[in-house]
Amino acid sequence: MMRWRPNTLFADGAAHIRYRTTLIDAFDLVEPHDLRERVHRAVHLLVSRIGPRGEADLVGEFTRPLMALVFNSLFGLPDSAGDRLDAALGKLIEGGAQAAEGEAEYAGYVLELIAAKTERRGDDLPSWLLDHPAGLTPEEVTWQVFLTLGAGHEPTANLVSNALSRILGNPDYYSTLTSGARPVTDAVLEVLHHETPLANYGIHYARTPVTFHGVWIRASVPVVISYGALAQAAEQERGADRHPGDASHLPGRRARTPARSSSTRCSSPPRRSNGSRSGCPTWNPCCPANVSPGGPAPSTVR
Ligand code: HEM
Repeated sequence: MMRWRPNTLFADGAAHIRYRTTLIDAFDLVEPHDLRERVHRAVHLLVSRIGPRGEADLVGEFTRPLMALVFNSLFGLPDSAGDRLDAALGKLIEGGAQAAEGEAEYAGYVLELIAAKTERRGDDLPSWLLDHPAGLTPEEVTWQVFLTLGAGHEPTANLVSNALSRILGNPDYYSTLTSGARPVTDAVLEVLHHETPLANYGIHYARTPVTFHGVWIRASVPVVISYGALAQAAEQERGADRHPGDASHLPGRRARTPARSSSTRCSSPPRRSNGSRSGCPTWNPCCPANVSPGGPAPSTVR
């Protein structure tokens, strides 16, 4: 999680913009209705497996496999590869003795994926990254996929787990949501604010010694941001009169994940900088102007 790798998270300046733009453009090609269909399909698959039993482990049998199915479909892999992805990432993120083994398994998974997509493109994120006009090499694409598949899977699985456990574990809460009195988004916002899916991350270091809000920070020493502690501190500042489940104080009723700057924060949800979605003012492999007669996502578009 903390090791330097040649990807957008650890890059600055022009290199960061190049990697980041490529990711944003590729993710922007996933239409919301298409994403919704992929999620629905994966949910139906899992619920039809666990439904007849009447009970399931929320994390192990629903949210983690759900993320593996959805991300694999976006990254051009079959459902059958989901367990392999889930197992490798689980070991890597949990840390401890199994972390190195998990990292090696996950690296093998991503390497095989990029090798397959380099050989034969599909209608998927790795193929769009390989064909992006920024001209990333297969190795560079491998590193961006290594980051994004992991960065997308783990916190989102935690977010869905925490939101579902909040909803399903509290009958009053459940009924306000099912009656329509409150939208499900409220549960998601509350979890983002009170039970952050990623307690600590956003690794930074100072290039030269600095004082930051009265704290002396030495150069080159990693500083880890605790999003969990930030949420708790914000809650205490707001006073005890507010109900812990009340997310109405959030600006525009949206939780904010603190980030170091607009250019380096989490790239989810993906959005093109000019906000455009249709037409082809920017690169789009499906746009006729960018498509060679040979196929929909030509490797010659650079
Ligand atoms: C609840 C869900 C998520 C949470 C809490 C989360 C949290 C974070 C955090 C804390 C960072 C580090 C920011 C920093 O260093 O300042 C990050 C970076 C990143 N995340 Fe997420 N993330 C989530 C979902 C996703 C998803 C779904 C994707 C993509 C599929 C994604 C892709 C990335 C990428 C590519 C970066 C590096 C961005 C850059 O430095 O340019 N994340 N995320």
